[in-house]
Amino acid sequence: CQAAVAADRVPDMGKRNLMNLLLLGAISLPSAGLIGPYLYFFVPPSTGGEGAGVVAKDALGNDITVKGWLDSHSPGDRTLAQGLKGDPTYLVVENDGQLASYGVNAVCTHLGCVVPFNKAENKFICPCHGSQYNNQGRVVRGPAPLSLALAHVDVADGKVFFSPWSETDFRTGENPWWS
Ligand code: FES
Repeated sequence: CQAAVAADRVPDMGKRNLMNLLLLGAISLPSAGLIGPYLYFFVPPSTGGEGAGVVAKDALGNDITVKGWLDSHSPGDRTLAQGLKGDPTYLVVENDGQLASYGVNAVCTHLGCVVPFNKAENKFICPCHGSQYNNQGRVVRGPAPLSLALAHVDVADGKVFFSPWSETDFRTGENPWWS
């Protein structure tokens, strides 16, 4: 009886796959021309081949400029911006007042809560289950199994851009787990 059911379903599935293929073909042909300009929008003009980047946005959705950011943030600040794939990502102002060349993804590697920065303790401390990360996002206390992900931070035409970090994690000397 089961065999009969399975045999019944095979032609059905075959048909459905074919329909999907036809549908995909119909959709992707006209949109191919639209993808070029769409991608171009997200690639900053001068990051020197770092790959696709996105403009960092502030809490109101405005593009972040390096001048505006440094005028309104102090050395040692870690403040959330909208990063790659919309992930909340910290921009770091180094102790010398410069913007760090890395951003710290705020999504906890335990179960995904957004981790706030605790300035008094100079650590990221997750409110959900107490994981702690140092001020560069390296995990120092579980249950989080891994450090917070990194993103590159670059400035082009005065604006701040995030782009994927695929090299060695400078905090651990290991390959990045997130790429
Ligand atoms: Fe952060 Fe569990 S989600 S400690």
